[in-house]
Amino acid sequence: MSNKQEIEEQQKFIEKVKEYTKNKNYKYFILTMGCQLNENDSEKICGMLEKMLFQKTEKYEEADIVLFNTCCVRENAEDKLFGKLGEIKKIKEQRGTIVAVGGCMMQEQHIVEKIKKSYPFCDIIFGTHTLHKLPEDIYNVLKEKKKIKDIIDIDGEVYEGLPIKRNDNIKASVTIMYGCNNFCSYCIVPYVRGRERSRNASDIIKEIKELSKEGYKEVTLLGQNVNSYKGNSEDLEYPNVKNFADLLMEIEKIDGIERIRFISPHPKDFTDDVIDVISKSNKICKIIHLPLQAGNNEVLKNMNRKYTKEQYLALVEKMKKKIPNIVFSTDIIVGFPGETDEQFEDTLDVVRKVKFEQVYMFIYSRRVGTRADKMENQIPEEIKHKRFNKLKELVESQISENNKKYIGTIQKILVEGSSKTNENMLTGRTETNKVVNFKGDKELINKIILIKITEDCQWYLKGEI
Ligand code: SAH
Ligand code: SF4
Ligand code: F3S
Repeated sequence: MSNKQEIEEQQKFIEKVKEYTKNKNYKYFILTMGCQLNENDSEKICGMLEKMLFQKTEKYEEADIVLFNTCCVRENAEDKLFGKLGEIKKIKEQRGTIVAVGGCMMQEQHIVEKIKKSYPFCDIIFGTHTLHKLPEDIYNVLKEKKKIKDIIDIDGEVYEGLPIKRNDNIKASVTIMYGCNNFCSYCIVPYVRGRERSRNASDIIKEIKELSKEGYKEVTLLGQNVNSYKGNSEDLEYPNVKNFADLLMEIEKIDGIERIRFISPHPKDFTDDVIDVISKSNKICKIIHLPLQAGNNEVLKNMNRKYTKEQYLALVEKMKKKIPNIVFSTDIIVGFPGETDEQFEDTLDVVRKVKFEQVYMFIYSRRVGTRADKMENQIPEEIKHKRFNKLKELVESQISENNKKYIGTIQKILVEGSSKTNENMLTGRTETNKVVNFKGDKELINKIILIKITEDCQWYLKGEI
């Protein structure tokens, strides 16, 4: 069956499920753990569920189906799932709720075994490559009362045409490529998401044009390694989109979309043509997420990152030269096997030099099946935590320093809504992703306006129109 036929087949299952769900007011609860790619997958899961007449609820106690879309990039994500499954057991016994567990963790065999053994009440276990088959899985549970395990261990495919129910109506995420070929030695993602595969440019552009029509102003292009995006020369509409730079240029042309972001590019694949496109663009936000992971060359080599500290810094310098006012955010792992205090200093050195707008900091977490997990020189937890705190301190001091630079400046803000903590205030973000709160009329929501920054409140800024 072709992928297109496969999706048509699932449409039929949606119709069949509707025979069970119509007039019943069925509700679903979904918990998404993990990255924005998983969030985007969950939006598709919600899209399918709503087509099957399930309505969203924020309370799992009243749901007829509870879904967990899991992550396994670090251990704490696993602990969280097992905690939640423990909670759900009682509800399942009382109400017969359908329990479905999917996502990255389900691509790990030892986890699936654990769920079958310790949480046998789960009805559906689905992986990252079989998400589109949820209607069929749900149908089989409703009709046959079967337990379903729908996981395949393949390199993965691209399925177009799934319904989608988005979380936000101002900003949207669009996955442009799936999977990863990089095999950084600490990382589980390539094992659970399969090899890299790109969507056709025509499908991506069609999706973004629709978003624009619906009023969205900002899109974030998603992928584990967006700058290894590859176009398809057989794509009828966009055969000339060969790479990420070409794709960005096409997206730039879409009217109505005013901001373009992307995560994550890999430093080793950051080519000059992409830098050129960013420098000429009016829409690509001048903040680039450039995952560093570590600043020491030996550690980087053991991580299999394929760049050195010097190359990373040279790339940052090159971009700063070609793109006025560009700033950076990053990901850093502390306590990779074998990392010495001295080597960790190199990471701090890069942080001092680049002065990131934002740093996502992680304590190294052993992942079964990865190369780093087999390394003998694992770092004791205590040292990892010490390094984490040291990094955190540096980052926090830099962020407050950075925030001060905003005071008195005029920033373009995309207004996202009312502030969560104060109904009288509006909230939005700068191009560099800083949250800004200010007084204003609700009619400004979903508009880009100019705000003068007046105050630094550590985690956000205050300003006035
Ligand atoms: N593809 C992206 C992000 C992948 S996962 C990239 O290459 O940047 C998001 C982040 O989780 C990574 O950037 C890394 O900093 C962190 N991470 C991945 N595996 C980890 C592990 N085993 N322990 C701790 N952090 C990890
Ligand atoms: Fe993981 Fe590295 Fe791939 Fe990112 S590039 S998903 S860190 S293997
Ligand atoms: Fe986690 Fe899967 Fe994303 S492992 S970080 S949810 S790709």
